[in-house]
Amino acid sequence: MDTPAGRPTALVTGASAGLGAAYAAHLAAAGHDLVLVARDGARLGELAERLGEQHGARVEVLVADLARREQLAAVAARLGDATRPVDLLVNNAGYGLKQSLAVGEVELLERHFDVLARAVLVLSNAAAKGMVARGRGHVLNVGSVAGLLAGGGHYAALKGYVLALTESLAKDLRGTGVTATVVLPGYVRTEFHARAGMRGASGPSRAWLEPDDVVTTSLRDTFAGRLVSVPSPQYRALAAVLGVLPRSAVRAAWRLGSRAAPSTARTDLRRD
Ligand SMILES: NC(=O)c1ccc[n+]([C@@H]2O[C@H](COP(=O)([O-])OP(=O)(O)OC[C@H]3O[C@@H](n4cnc5c(N)ncnc54)[C@H](OP(=O)(O)O)[C@@H]3O)[C@@H](O)[C@H]2O)c1
Repeated sequence: MDTPAGRPTALVTGASAGLGAAYAAHLAAAGHDLVLVARDGARLGELAERLGEQHGARVEVLVADLARREQLAAVAARLGDATRPVDLLVNNAGYGLKQSLAVGEVELLERHFDVLARAVLVLSNAAAKGMVARGRGHVLNVGSVAGLLAGGGHYAALKGYVLALTESLAKDLRGTGVTATVVLPGYVRTEFHARAGMRGASGPSRAWLEPDDVVTTSLRDTFAGRLVSVPSPQYRALAAVLGVLPRSAVRAAWRLGSRAAPSTARTDLRRD
């Protein structure tokens, strides 16, 4: 695969915290310039300054709420700007939501859908168009092992969409020099669980991954052109088991799990 002549540029959504900030730091250290996207402009500005000083990266800050169509369109327009090509898109922004699909507030579910699904579709398409024209580039979508969990709530449904979308995108990109990868992390130590009001931080310590480990593995798999990246052996084993179990068996396990007193880990994995 061709590499760009100068420093490559990566656009990372959800770069103000957690995995997104870790992607930004790893990519800057590896010689990328960056476009950082999130709602919190102050945090993005601080990160941009630090990465510029530490690694000599040129860092643009693009403040956007991906749930708002006009702001999402501005990010898509940046990806489509042929005069400032983006070589890697990391669709990372996301959050957990405790809302029943049956009786929850549909506005909250729609906003969740817009950030975790619609934005991933729109930005993948905007990035891929330019990358295909240039014959090179990578799209990395942040999914979750939760996306393999039949009956795992709205978050799992949206992460299931991200997995299926990436599989189909990769097929459409075959032979173009552009690759699509989806990473399926398990629990990662970020702000995710606290922001969603979950108790996950108290789960078993061996279940937890560090952002750096997820980022290192998924970037390696992205640049190798692999479709699915599952960081850490325990989650690779879980993904393999979930991949061969019938969906009815996974749904039955949820039913049993919710009848027993739900442990912290179980409850939070379902919502993660
Ligand atoms: N942590 C886990 O256990 C885990 C496991 C599997 C998958 N994931 C996935 O990993 C990704 C990153 O999550 P994280 O764990 O790093 O969580 P985090 O620390 O809470 O960071 C989430 C990021 O998403 C951004 N974001 C949220 N809503 C946004 C919106 N409407 N528009 C723009 N940006 C928005 C936040 O920035 P602002 O608030 O500044 O907008 C923040 O930068 C998510 O897709 C998540 O689903 C996480």
